[in-house]
Amino acid sequence: MSSPVSLTVITFGTFDVFHVGHLRVIERAAALGDRLVVGVSADELNLRKKGREPVFSQDERLAIVAALKPVDEVFVEESLELKRDYILKYGADVLVMGDDWAGRFDEFEDVCKVVYLPRTPAISTTAVIEKISAGS
Ligand code: CTP
Repeated sequence: MSSPVSLTVITFGTFDVFHVGHLRVIERAAALGDRLVVGVSADELNLRKKGREPVFSQDERLAIVAALKPVDEVFVEESLELKRDYILKYGADVLVMGDDWAGRFDEFEDVCKVVYLPRTPAISTTAVIEKISAGS
């Protein structure tokens, strides 16, 4: 008798100023498999990637993401160049990214399935920060 196949999904992001777009992508990623692993960008990586310090520290962002029901495991993503290593280390069968990254991770199709999910419209961390800063 063959054992049931368990699928591991991996996704990445900064998840700063956690909002409903983050929740939706995590829920949809989890629905594609049995176990969801989330790489949360290090503060240093976020600074390099987005040109600003995150509002919440990596430890705080990690704690928030880890507490979500669909999330099984979290780790700190130290570098964008380590994606392949993380996929292999966590035994991911599926890599999920937002479609703002469409096509950019196709090189990993030799080790896992690559899925780009549409972003939730009209919300982002940047927009929330701008809205609060403007006091509107
Ligand atoms: N995401 C999404 N829908 C949104 C915003 C983000 O599906 N409206 C997804 C991204 O595609 C990514 C994950 O959430 O897979 C983490 O994105 P992140 O860059 O942390 O969030 P943003 O809100 O896009 O942040 P920023 O404005 O700083 O770029």
